[in-house]
Amino acid sequence: MSTDEKKYRGYVGVFDSGVGGISVLREMIRELPNENFYYFGDSANAPYGEKTVEKVQELSMSIVDRMVNEGCKAIVVACNTATSAAVRLIREKYEKTMPVIGIEPALKPAAREEHHGRILVMATPVTLRLEKYHELSGRLAGEAEFIPVSCAGLADRVEKGNLDAADVTQMLEQMIGPYRGQIDGIVLGCTHYPFLKKQIHSVMGDVPLYDGGRGTARELHRQLSRHGLLNKGEEPGRVVLDSSLKTEEEMKIYRQLLDADIE
Ligand code: DGL
Repeated sequence: MSTDEKKYRGYVGVFDSGVGGISVLREMIRELPNENFYYFGDSANAPYGEKTVEKVQELSMSIVDRMVNEGCKAIVVACNTATSAAVRLIREKYEKTMPVIGIEPALKPAAREEHHGRILVMATPVTLRLEKYHELSGRLAGEAEFIPVSCAGLADRVEKGNLDAADVTQMLEQMIGPYRGQIDGIVLGCTHYPFLKKQIHSVMGDVPLYDGGRGTARELHRQLSRHGLLNKGEEPGRVVLDSSLKTEEEMKIYRQLLDADIE
């Protein structure tokens, strides 16, 4: 590819199985307002969390290969599932050339804040099955009790938008409602779930929620700075939203979630 075709030269490439990584992108824009971001959601292939590990690896690598070819200076895997399944392979291939940042369920901050508490960990079936999660929860086992809840179907529902609809609350009621009043915190271990904060609170009451978005944004800041890759420009950076499902409705959901009030 000629340099002219490197249309995302100097951008930070960010990807997820779909709209979820936009929750991480929002934190990164807040942390690094002068950076240019190219966001790609693989909505045509979502959800990743119910696929085989090999399939998630193949899909993730082909997105990263393209981003690198198109000039991205760093890669953020804004998906817990793709990080668990593929970040090691992505690092093996690209870490010598550029920063590769992944996201992991926010067990550490949750255990720090809710010391010795009971913490629900909502995540996809793939994330909860893989070694990365077991290694992390095992390491922190003395600090808190973690209760994993495999939320098959939830990320896929977020993909469809209209999150105030009754079926979303019903799903949450079934998945996590039984723990109401019995836990001290909830880890949102999939980047789609921060868009459901309001709905989760309506089902679970005023329980603290933890996600890895802020930590990932800070790690990106550190890595860009360490590699001398921070954008020196003073003007606000550009944000390009892209998807493998480029319909009008889909791109509308992407834009809405970038601006949505989810705090
Ligand atoms: N957003 C992704 C995650 O953080 C996965 C959602 C999915 O595609 O299953 O795990």
